[in-house]
Amino acid sequence: MSNENVQADAAPPAPANVLVLFGAGGDLTKRKLIPAMFHLSSAGMLPEDFAMVGIDRLELDSEAYRERIDSEIEGFVGETFSRDLWDKLLKRIYYVQGDFKNAESYAALKDMLQQVDQEQRTPGSYLFYLSTPPSFFGEIAGQLSAAGLMQETGDQWRRIIIEKPFGHNLASAKVLNEQLHQAVREHQIYRIDHYLGKETVQNILAFRFSNGIIEPVWNSRYVDHVQITVAEALGVENRASYYEEAGALRDMISNHLLAVLSVVAMEPPNSFDADLIRDEQSKVLRAVRPIADDEVASSAVRGQYGAGTLADGSSAPAYRDEPGVAADSSIDTFSALKLQIDSWRWAGVPFYMRTGKRMPRRYTEVVVEFKHAPDILFQKSMLRKSKVPPCRLVMRIQPNEGIELSLNAKIPGATPRLGTVNMNFNYADYFNSMPSTGYETLIYDCMIGDATLFKRADNIELGWEILDPVINAWSTQPGTEFPNYPAGTAGPETADELLERDGRAWHENTDS
Ligand code: BG6
Repeated sequence: MSNENVQADAAPPAPANVLVLFGAGGDLTKRKLIPAMFHLSSAGMLPEDFAMVGIDRLELDSEAYRERIDSEIEGFVGETFSRDLWDKLLKRIYYVQGDFKNAESYAALKDMLQQVDQEQRTPGSYLFYLSTPPSFFGEIAGQLSAAGLMQETGDQWRRIIIEKPFGHNLASAKVLNEQLHQAVREHQIYRIDHYLGKETVQNILAFRFSNGIIEPVWNSRYVDHVQITVAEALGVENRASYYEEAGALRDMISNHLLAVLSVVAMEPPNSFDADLIRDEQSKVLRAVRPIADDEVASSAVRGQYGAGTLADGSSAPAYRDEPGVAADSSIDTFSALKLQIDSWRWAGVPFYMRTGKRMPRRYTEVVVEFKHAPDILFQKSMLRKSKVPPCRLVMRIQPNEGIELSLNAKIPGATPRLGTVNMNFNYADYFNSMPSTGYETLIYDCMIGDATLFKRADNIELGWEILDPVINAWSTQPGTEFPNYPAGTAGPETADELLERDGRAWHENTDS
């Protein structure tokens, strides 16, 4: 087995542009976006002619904003920080104080952009990153357009990155899409789902479509069912005001888990063209069988954590006792779903998904379980009462990124016995990768105009269409069963029953 430790590809610098960060004083900017800029710069992926303009309500000028981020950056970049490189980048960072609802702020931004274009020789191509509460998305797009800042001419491009959450149900997502479409054209909108930025999620496509032995078995003839798990050890942290409105189904399943499902289940596109890929993803989401109102109880499970003990032995409070959470909150901190995809490829193959806060450990994995081999032979010769275990492919998205195939083998010895063996590939054994916050690829792709890893309006709406029946049912029935799993455990018993009813069980992750 070769172990070349291949360095991640250094991509050429993006074309000259200015990145405009709405929400420049916020947490995401400090923790992820500025460090991502630094990583891109140290990988040589930012253009020579580049600048960043932050905009927020904080009363600062460019000099004071630079001082502020200068004092924070090192802690968020870590070992790879280089003072020289950072100083060069810092000189190209500007700030505008403004209120996102006020037209004057956009006039000030426009003046600043003209000044920056002159000073930094940037050609008038702008990337607007909306790291703001969702209530500002439509407003900011409308104001940018009214100020003439979204108009593209010649080689000058204007793009807008929208953070999640994108609506809170189908109706609100449609309204938001309409607001955006009134201001900008679809090709200018980049809706972010940072799971699509994860290398291991992207590798699912490479794994499926570049290995001739995989695709022939990737269908209902060979696959028994698929499981997608995104487990988090953390609780709600200090995000109660957001999470009390969202819950696990909206926060995670509506975007990240459905994004993973579409990559696992989509048909091969004719090329890696962004629209062809997103066409296939929409096609598979459209094939998900709608959950009828009277099927919600048998297809969806919700949970909320109570007090419990975490893996490190410390105790954690109940969700309802977290700061900012209502004492009778009905919000799901865990949710699980069973979906059926009514397509030729997946007929009769259930897709089970679950995600939750305060589970025993943080891991994301996709498990493809294959059908049992006919085991008459083994039952006769080995007097087995139970079935021969099925082959299982586990794609570890994070942490310990890798792929594992479990197979059956004969245990050496005179008595014929079967044992399970694993073929295991770890990313770290083969590839080095550049330090990453997860946002580098997405920002870079937007700068080069590659929308493959971003969601189109129809992808978003189809996701909500799948979940709306569950959202409606849960919002009309208070969670009288809550709390129904202790912090530090794998979710409520009802989640196990979801699979047990079908004679199946969740894959137990023992890896991290
Ligand atoms: C975010 C959710 O989108 O994803 C958070 O809002 C969640 O609640 C996070 O913790 C998980 O992301 P990751 O990359 O750490 O798995």
